Amino acid sequence: MTINEVRRKYLEFMKSKGHVVLQSSSLVPENDPTTLFTAAGMQPMINYILGEKHPMGTRIADTQKCFRSQDIEEIGDNRHTTFFEMLGNWSFGDYFKKDQIAFMYEFLTDKNVGLGLSKDRLYFSCYTGNENLGLPKDDESKNFWLENGIDESHVKFYDESKNWWSRSGIPEKMPEGEPGGPDSEMFFDFDPKGEKQIHANSKFKNEACHPNCDCGRFIEIGNSVFIQYKKTGDKLVELEQKNVDFGGGLTRMAAATVDDNDIFNLDVFTDAKNILENISSKNYNENEENKINFRIIFDHIHAATFLIGDGVVPGNKDQMYFVRRLLRRAIVAGHKLNIHENFTKSVAETFITNYKEAEEYLGDNLSKHREKILDELDKEEIKFRKTLNSGMKEFEKISHKDINGEAAFNLLQSFGFPIELTTELANDAKIKVDLEGFNKLKIEHAEKSRTSSEGMFKGGLADQGEATTALHTTCHLMLEGMKKVLGEGVTQKGSNITPERLRFDFTFTRKIEDDEKRKIEDYVNDAIKNGFDVSIDEIPKSIAKADGVTGAFWEKYPEIVKVYTMKGSGGEIYSRELCGGPHVENSNDYLKGKTFSIIKEEAVSGGVRRFKGVLK
Ligand code: ALA
Repeated sequence: MTINEVRRKYLEFMKSKGHVVLQSSSLVPENDPTTLFTAAGMQPMINYILGEKHPMGTRIADTQKCFRSQDIEEIGDNRHTTFFEMLGNWSFGDYFKKDQIAFMYEFLTDKNVGLGLSKDRLYFSCYTGNENLGLPKDDESKNFWLENGIDESHVKFYDESKNWWSRSGIPEKMPEGEPGGPDSEMFFDFDPKGEKQIHANSKFKNEACHPNCDCGRFIEIGNSVFIQYKKTGDKLVELEQKNVDFGGGLTRMAAATVDDNDIFNLDVFTDAKNILENISSKNYNENEENKINFRIIFDHIHAATFLIGDGVVPGNKDQMYFVRRLLRRAIVAGHKLNIHENFTKSVAETFITNYKEAEEYLGDNLSKHREKILDELDKEEIKFRKTLNSGMKEFEKISHKDINGEAAFNLLQSFGFPIELTTELANDAKIKVDLEGFNKLKIEHAEKSRTSSEGMFKGGLADQGEATTALHTTCHLMLEGMKKVLGEGVTQKGSNITPERLRFDFTFTRKIEDDEKRKIEDYVNDAIKNGFDVSIDEIPKSIAKADGVTGAFWEKYPEIVKVYTMKGSGGEIYSRELCGGPHVENSNDYLKGKTFSIIKEEAVSGGVRRFKGVLK
């Protein structure tokens, strides 16, 4: 099957089991300061797992764009990628283990409604339990797999290092309030008879092979997490609501259907492969080294294409730095394949075209931002190419011995080599880099160039969650102020809030003048000074609309919507807006005594501008 077929099959299957299919959320989490990227399908669902009512019901499914930045340097093998789609289904207090396992068995093995994989090729893992943590062995899951027809020899037990899932990992690492639980993973056996010698040729050949062996014979294709606990103190406390959180790797499932364990042989990469083979005059299959460099390019340009599509352009800070690193690393991989002409744009173009068919599920950010994506890639490539050759020469010149901080900093400043790239090249050359020295220089440099207006916010709030909530409420007030000052036509395009600042994208066609900014700030600060209560109403969408409630993305909301109203003691309405929360209950909560200011205004794209604002 192609990945388009697998995606559609899965989502149609989940729909037939009563799930509402949603579009993927952005790769950049909204209102989640704890993480830069969406790295699992459950991230946008956390509040519903903790018991908040999902507007679309208790059964939800989607394919979620994910980016795992920590994997950048691992890319090169047959199955890891930084960007991937995670197929997901959730039960929020609805069905539990029995149904989830039956769904999965049917989807994996059925020829008509599912993938038609042979059950002899499938293996499953379950949780051993842990007496110290008071967690039972998950015989339940095992028995459900057996009931469905799986042979007992295909079910293996592992401890929490393998069969426990929370966003932060094992129970000890979970922060207060984080949900998690035991899981049951599904594996496909790519070499049941040992003919491909996958295990025998691996560095694990002296150990017995098993589903979690890293030799590559077994590949994990999905994971059902039974989220029934929440970390409370040093204990795991049962959630009132028992949830299922399933995540499946789209490309890995597709790889299983064609019985080829190299996901880079899948249809989505074929056009990119042809282009690269042509311009490099090298063959993907020629040797292992070529393969690694091809895969780095496939993965990194794939990821960068989706990230820019979601608004993250290459740059020096936050999310943007990862896009820069991806591109520069891909260009260096191209350099190793003897590619010295610009290629990132044409590779990205193949992805933009190939994903057209998936817009129903992924949204249309690639085709909508096609020009911007190609343009950003090209600009970054042209910029880096200017210094790449001389940078590589400089590196060769200095790499006969360990690289000191100054030399590493020079590679960054003069040749655009991110420190991670220098470190990687140094690893290949078997020399070391003085990271401490490098960091010291970098900090000194940053301190000199930092403007005084930045980084002054110290919070004064009890914790990050409160700082974020306060800024979220501020965001609502600000939008209302903007409508008053700039006109009712201003609508939200996106927002991102960290404990330090709010970032808010909106439609507007010109620069916003200083006096307009002051008036918007005044609106917010007057509301804070006068004080207000926040109330939540759940009302039909049509009434909210007719009532003039502010809202973007109406179509994404269900028939009954939540409206947050900020009302002063004299009855004046400071804001009335559609939202999922959370907000302060009253302006005395974390807002009292604070002053809001807009610290930056800039254009994001034609017709869209961005504010950054802080509370002090
Ligand atoms: N949240 C689970 C995972 O990422 C499904 O594996």
